[in-house]
Amino acid sequence: MNAVHDPRSILITGSSSGIGRATAERFGARGWRVFASLRRPDAGAPLRELGARKGWRLTTPELDVTRDDSVAAAVAEVLRQTDGRLDVLVNNAGYYAYGPLEETSPDELRAQLETNVVGVHRVTRAVLPAMRARRAGTVVTLGSLSGRVALPMVGPYHASKWALEGMIEAWRLELHPFGVRMALIEPGPFATPLYANERIAAAADRAESPYADLLASYRREAARLGRAHDLTPLVDAIERAATAENPRLRWPVGPTSFSAGRLRPFVPDRLYEWIMRIAFRTRRPLPPDPSRTDASLRL
Ligand SMILES: NC(=O)c1ccc[n+]([C@@H]2O[C@H](COP(=O)([O-])OP(=O)(O)OC[C@H]3O[C@@H](n4cnc5c(N)ncnc54)[C@H](OP(=O)(O)O)[C@@H]3O)[C@@H](O)[C@H]2O)c1
Repeated sequence: MNAVHDPRSILITGSSSGIGRATAERFGARGWRVFASLRRPDAGAPLRELGARKGWRLTTPELDVTRDDSVAAAVAEVLRQTDGRLDVLVNNAGYYAYGPLEETSPDELRAQLETNVVGVHRVTRAVLPAMRARRAGTVVTLGSLSGRVALPMVGPYHASKWALEGMIEAWRLELHPFGVRMALIEPGPFATPLYANERIAAAADRAESPYADLLASYRREAARLGRAHDLTPLVDAIERAATAENPRLRWPVGPTSFSAGRLRPFVPDRLYEWIMRIAFRTRRPLPPDPSRTDASLRL
């Protein structure tokens, strides 16, 4: 049981698992009032039980970042319960869509952007009037190393995380005069359910895909990639960004986040592409096949 309750409040999206859940636990333990939102209320049962056991002030409101009505209702209720005072929003909800871009349908790409980008925009817009009115508040968004370094087969997810880089950089400048802070967390790979829940483009999930070899290379490389199991440094970064008086814009954290994310701008594109072609075994273009007209074979 916490003896001292912090007067501050935090709304987190996507708290059913992984980073969102770990963030909810951290702020619950700190004595904050935590709105650990999720889109499926039943998925919040373990967190609710833990919070009740520990004496945390933690609730799990329903919030689907892709639905206007859900976001409006959840944020209105949070603001009602906090008398209009929400200190921190953590835009965490997201999923990992991958597959060759040619085989990604516009609907699949749209769905990825709807959750990972428009969802951030939708929830942030909903909380901003209250934060601007108080000239206070911090919005922390989960970007990614995938917003700074690109791999083949990860185009849909990259598109969403690169979009966040530009959106948050611009938004932070717009909010500065109002005393509202923004920060972008850029994690490298952490072992969370993100990867078990990943969604491959439906058209790519077949042996006869022209990209089958590249997809196999991607899967091999992804399996070799070291994922951090301890979320502590990541949650530390979120907490520091959420509570700093003047947080910086970008917070790289976790495996290769600093090295790859920070060094990539200094590596010439041709050199980067050469390294990627070696890693993904696409060094030589495939020879033209006169018996087929499938342009997608010319990788
Ligand atoms: N793990 C990594 O390596 C890594 C690296 C860089 C960035 N990130 C980012 O960190 C964030 C959290 O990911 P994670 O690793 O913790 O994965 P996770 O455990 O799969 O968590 C994702 C959360 O987002 C929720 N979500 C998905 N769509 C939603 C929607 N429409 N409305 C509300 N919630 C929704 C999921 O809810 P359901 O349970 O209902 O699906 C889940 O709670 C994501 O934005 C991800 O891109 C993760």
